[in-house]
Amino acid sequence: METQKKRVFSGIQPTGAFTLGNYLGAVRNWPLLQDEYDCIYCVVDQHAITVRQTPADLRKKTYEAAAMLLASGIDPQKSLLFVQSHVPQHAQLSWVLSCNAQFGELSRMTQFKDKSAKHADNINTGLFTYPVLMAADILLYGTHYVPVGGDQKQHVELARDIAQRFNNAYSETFVLPEPMIPKVGARIMSLQEPTKKMSKSDSNEKSFVLMTDSADVIMKKFKSAVTDSDGIVRYDVENKPGISNLMGIYSVMTGKTMADIEKEFDGQGYGTFKTAVAESVITALKPVQDEYNRILADKAYLESTLKDGAQKAQYVANKLVNKVYRKVGFAQF
Ligand code: TYM
Repeated sequence: METQKKRVFSGIQPTGAFTLGNYLGAVRNWPLLQDEYDCIYCVVDQHAITVRQTPADLRKKTYEAAAMLLASGIDPQKSLLFVQSHVPQHAQLSWVLSCNAQFGELSRMTQFKDKSAKHADNINTGLFTYPVLMAADILLYGTHYVPVGGDQKQHVELARDIAQRFNNAYSETFVLPEPMIPKVGARIMSLQEPTKKMSKSDSNEKSFVLMTDSADVIMKKFKSAVTDSDGIVRYDVENKPGISNLMGIYSVMTGKTMADIEKEFDGQGYGTFKTAVAESVITALKPVQDEYNRILADKAYLESTLKDGAQKAQYVANKLVNKVYRKVGFAQF
């Protein structure tokens, strides 16, 4: 007898082209889960407005994000793909969950601390309650696993805590989700300051590689990556963060272990190594970029895929919201 597949859910903000960090930490892994799990992937536009966005840009970036996810291998025949604001149940559940989340626990979220320091002129309450909306995203679909990079672990754990608290107060309602974090690639670092996470909001463009960057640009960015002066390709995150970061990238791209990589570049300079890393990235991204351009040009396909995804997601989400509304005591006729 066929057993029911476990549910996977993840989301990504449409705030610009995805970085190599987004790809290796999350997006690249999502299609790999499609056969074993029942997968739902979401472009989280409602999360994006916690930081001021230009409306026309946000709309454009939402299409681009969806096209990039499809180009990366998400197959709408196997997985659900939709835009968060098309499924109003996310916002509905978020309100109920916010009444079951504590001010203190939200204050401890490192992403809130970082973002409020970066955007000191706009510390809006959405930025503060962002992890509650993320908990709603996850809990709406009975999610077992959440494939994310290391920086989102704390948010998934919070979703689990909120779910547990709700279940204790109102009886078993939510599945308790767990983060699914890749062994290598969970935290891709800046190419210029390798002790900082690679992020597209970095003011130095050389610090990140975008999935849409041309081969030339990718090569240049890797060639100017900050390393160290001892000239040995060796994995040592503490003392050689730059080289270790490049080794992590190369390892995910080629499937080679750190020991293999050390052997491969034994006695060779950093120049050769950096070129090899850049080439591995260029080769992996090329087919994704071609597919991205093809899909982005086919707006009708993109729209019908997202519409279909939203309809199916609404059906699942609506049942859960009704159940939650009943449990908390909202009158229903
Ligand atoms: P976001 O949009 O910032 O990033 C999307 C995914 O990319 C991962 N990531 C990285 N992984 C490795 N190294 C890096 N340098 C790096 N930078 C980003 C992130 O960990 C993430 O998995 N709050 C989420 C979006 C979200 C979500 C959800 C995720 C909203 N609701 C529900 C899962 C489930 C975010 O801002 O990701």
